[in-house]
This record gives sequence, C-alpha cells and structure tokens, in this order.
Amino acid sequence: MKRQRALALATLACALPTVASADELNLICAADVVICERLTEEFGKAYPDISTNMVRMSSGEAYAKIRAEARNPQTDVWWGGTGDPHLQAAADELTTPYDSPMKAELQDWALSQAKASGDRSIGVYSGVLGWGYNTEIFAAKGLKEPTCWADLLDPSLKGEIQIADPNSSGTAYTTLATLVQLMGEDEAFTYLKALNENVAQYTKSGSAPVKAAARGETGLGIVFMHDAVTQSVEGFPIKVVAPCEGTGYEIGSMSLIEGAPNPDQAKIFYDWVLRADVQSLMPEAGSYQIPSNKAAKASEHAIDPSTVKLIDYDFAKYGSSETRQHLLSRWDAEIGGRAAE
Ligand code: G6P
Repeated sequence: MKRQRALALATLACALPTVASADELNLICAADVVICERLTEEFGKAYPDISTNMVRMSSGEAYAKIRAEARNPQTDVWWGGTGDPHLQAAADELTTPYDSPMKAELQDWALSQAKASGDRSIGVYSGVLGWGYNTEIFAAKGLKEPTCWADLLDPSLKGEIQIADPNSSGTAYTTLATLVQLMGEDEAFTYLKALNENVAQYTKSGSAPVKAAARGETGLGIVFMHDAVTQSVEGFPIKVVAPCEGTGYEIGSMSLIEGAPNPDQAKIFYDWVLRADVQSLMPEAGSYQIPSNKAAKASEHAIDPSTVKLIDYDFAKYGSSETRQHLLSRWDAEIGGRAAE
C-alpha cells in the first residue's frame, strides 16, 4: 500500500513539470458556440501541445471583458464577432498590431479591417444583416410577409419580433448603425421606438432571436441572414429575408490582446485560423458566413452579397468609440430593454 502511494507520488512529481509548463491559449470566441467548439477542437488536433481555454461571449461582452482586464490581461486572442467593437478596442489600444504572413491570402474587405485598425484587427468572415421568420406562424396567424424594414412596424406584428440588445450584441449594434445610416439618426430612433412596440424580447446574443423563431417561440428574429440560413438548413420553417430598403453587413474580426499572457501561442492560432482549409470547415459547424481567405470554400448555402442591396457601411465611423458610445447611450435612454438570454 505504502509502496503504491510512493509510486503514485513519484509519478505525480514527474508529471507536474509537464503540466506546469504546458502551453496555454486563452481564447474569447464571439461567434456561435458550435463553430467556437469546433475551432477549439481542431486547433487542439493541429497543436496538441497547446491547451486552449475557450469562452464564448457576444461581441459587446467580449469588448467589455477585454477592457475590464486591461491592467492585467487574461485573454490572448479574440476571434469572431462583429468588427465594430474590435475597432473600438484597437482605438483604445487594448489590442496589439500583428502583420500576419496570412494577409496575402485574404479578401480586400478583411484587409480593410486591418488597415482601419492599424493591424490590430483583421477580417475573418463577413455576413449580411436581415431577418428570418417562421412561415408556419405567419401562415397560421395570416400575417403578411415582411420584406422591408418598414413592414416590421405593422401593428399585426405586435409581440412577434425578437432582436438582441446592442450593448451586448454586435448583431444588434450593426442593426442600430445600419438604420442610422439608412435613415439618419433621429429618424432611426423614431423607427426603433415604433419597432419596440412589436418587440417581445431583447436577447443577449445576436443569433438567439432566430433560434427562438425556429422553435416557434416568436414569429421573427432580426439577425444576420446566415444565422437564419442555419435554422432553415436544419429543417426549421424559417424564411430568410434581405430588407428591400437596403441593409448593412459585418466584417467578423479577430484581434490579439495587448500584454497577453501567451503572445506566441496567440500568433500560432491567429495564422492557423486564417488558413483556407480551416475556414472551409465553418459550414460543417452550421456557420454560413463568407470566409475571408480567398481560397476557402464558401458554402452553397452562403448568401451572395451581390444579390442584396447593401449600404456603404462606414466601419471607421460606427466602430469609433465616440459614435458607438453615443449610439448605445441614446439606445439605453430612449429604447432600453431587458436582455433575456
Ligand atoms: C453570430 C453570427 C456571427 C456574428 C455573431 C455576433 O454568431 O453567426 O456572424 O459575428 O453572431 O454575435 P453577437 O451575439 O455579438 O451579436
């Protein structure tokens, strides 16, 4: 018995240095949990010596966490989520510049994010804003198909709409910024107040509204179109809509954290996740964004942006601290809302 214990202790002692010196990576993943888990798993297979601690959060929450940790950073890399808070973090110098050798393989829109942030951020995917609605609920209640932003104000849709809270969600902030760019700020807030009459719930995560619509808990979710596509590909009665007046889009982004505890491992992940073969895995995880690597295979289910009326989204302006803070405070004061999920 004693000998067994001694042996066990000796084994533990041998094992300890390995455990203590194991490479780590602290990753914030701000996209859907399925792709977050898949990337973590694949990275583990590609680099078995690096153990990754992944936390999933929404874009605005990721920004808030990185800001709160500024004096003592705990995070190495922030992958995914809309580009606006990545730009705000870059302007606040919470993230660090990196000139990745993978830049040569990327689309122009991914590099424009790098340019706008002084190489503190880079585009990893893009997605177009719209909504998904439950065709069975709409048919059963005799509701008219909403094809334009204006249609969402119809009183028949009272209690039928969900959208996220723009403080936590990059999707909802993209919606707010899109409406301001389409209508002008005052008119956009008038619109949002009227929309509020039809909103049953403001969720924390951007894609939650269309998941709720898929389950029949609500009629319609304002989300990135690819998040609605995910539900319809899974077999739910969700129809995907691109608003007729025009719409905005995201440059889903990635940033390295200034003063990160594991900067070398962070760069290994950064270069790996920009690879064409890695980005080509996204559809397998139900993520139908447009990949940023030119050689990555976009899914047959991906939305073709050339078929949608896109606004000329001003990322520099709407990703700036000043504009983002101003719009979010005005939203809090005039619209408010309770994050539910
Ligand atoms: C989903 C989308 C991503 C988007 C993200 C933003 O995961 O698939 O394309 O970047 O939402 O999430 P958030 O919760 O911040 O709106």
